[in-house]
Amino acid sequence: MNTLLNRRQWLKAAGATLAATALAPRLSLRADPLPAPSAPAAAPGLVQLSWNENPFGPSPSAQRAMQVAVGRSCRYPDAEEEELLRLIAAREGCPTSQIVLGNGSGEILDAAGFHFGYEKGEIIAANPSYMQLVVAAEKAGGAAVRIPLNARLEHDLPAMAAAVGPRTSLVYIVNPNNPTGTVCEAAELREFVRTVSARVPVFIDEAYLECTDDFAGRTCAGLATSGHNVVVARTFSKIFGMAGCRLGYAVLPEKLAASLRARMTGSLSLTTIMAGIASLGDTAYVTATRAKLKAGREALMAQARALGREYTAAQGNFAFIKTGMPVQDFVKKMRAEGVIVGRPFPPLLEWARITVGLPEEMETCHRALRKVLG
Ligand SMILES: Cc1ncc(COP(=O)(O)O)c(C=O)c1O
Repeated sequence: MNTLLNRRQWLKAAGATLAATALAPRLSLRADPLPAPSAPAAAPGLVQLSWNENPFGPSPSAQRAMQVAVGRSCRYPDAEEEELLRLIAAREGCPTSQIVLGNGSGEILDAAGFHFGYEKGEIIAANPSYMQLVVAAEKAGGAAVRIPLNARLEHDLPAMAAAVGPRTSLVYIVNPNNPTGTVCEAAELREFVRTVSARVPVFIDEAYLECTDDFAGRTCAGLATSGHNVVVARTFSKIFGMAGCRLGYAVLPEKLAASLRARMTGSLSLTTIMAGIASLGDTAYVTATRAKLKAGREALMAQARALGREYTAAQGNFAFIKTGMPVQDFVKKMRAEGVIVGRPFPPLLEWARITVGLPEEMETCHRALRKVLG
């Protein structure tokens, strides 16, 4: 059965409130029934579990919003972008001047890398960790100081604090870390951020934090909104399953927000913005997805345990497992079984990162793991 949606009905369904004058309905569209969520194959017969995407999304309300947006795409997204910004600011409990939107959080990482790497700025980051900000800083003439993870493959916060020196322009923390999935202990991280940000800015990349068991207890956004020299980045690519839409944001001090905005070159599409607004209103979807991702990563850990392999206490939408062989060999063997996983993350060259996929994809993955590691 077809559903007739206008913008007002759609926004109501999405749980968003808005000023009627600012966003008066402009067009009604016929929205066809939604297809069941599916994860298009990377190649025929292959399961893609190497990019930390979330195949449970986008939520049905976000998909519906995108269908509506397609028909309105002759218009620039003006009031809609303001509405998204307003909703995000309300979510974070800060003024809109403390939010920067990006084409994925990747655009924000690039802007921050260029900003803090400029004039030989030195970025302190963990090793291994997510490299996009560091690479941008290096392109801008900056340098990286890479601090090895501790024995539990978590950020070594004391060592990172000790590394801060006169040339440090930024400390970059990824929580949970990619590729290891490990989280920083919440109280220790807060203390670290309070102390270190009194000397240099601290950037916390919380791309996967909404997938964890205790998002509210672990987020550092409150420090960014309460006057500390802290940036927190979030993405719609992970918990909201919108990697292909490209939407992320940062919460940060107003002055720094203005500096980063000056380096942003992207501009969000109406489709992405409307999907973002709908996603923010769909809390039931987020709760259900979080549970599915947790079940998926715990099943991978149980599999590793059953096969006698080490694994980390990962909390994102992926697991990190010691394969006992060079990871390139493991990747080849898994691919022969129809599953794309991992890539080398030096210096942890026997470890593989495996993303949680749809249940049927995980069946293929578990079968492959038993064959390759059994
Ligand atoms: C830790 C981390 N931060 C940021 C990103 C960038 O994500 P996006 O640009 O899709 O928001 C990723 C992508 O995988 C990531 O793993």
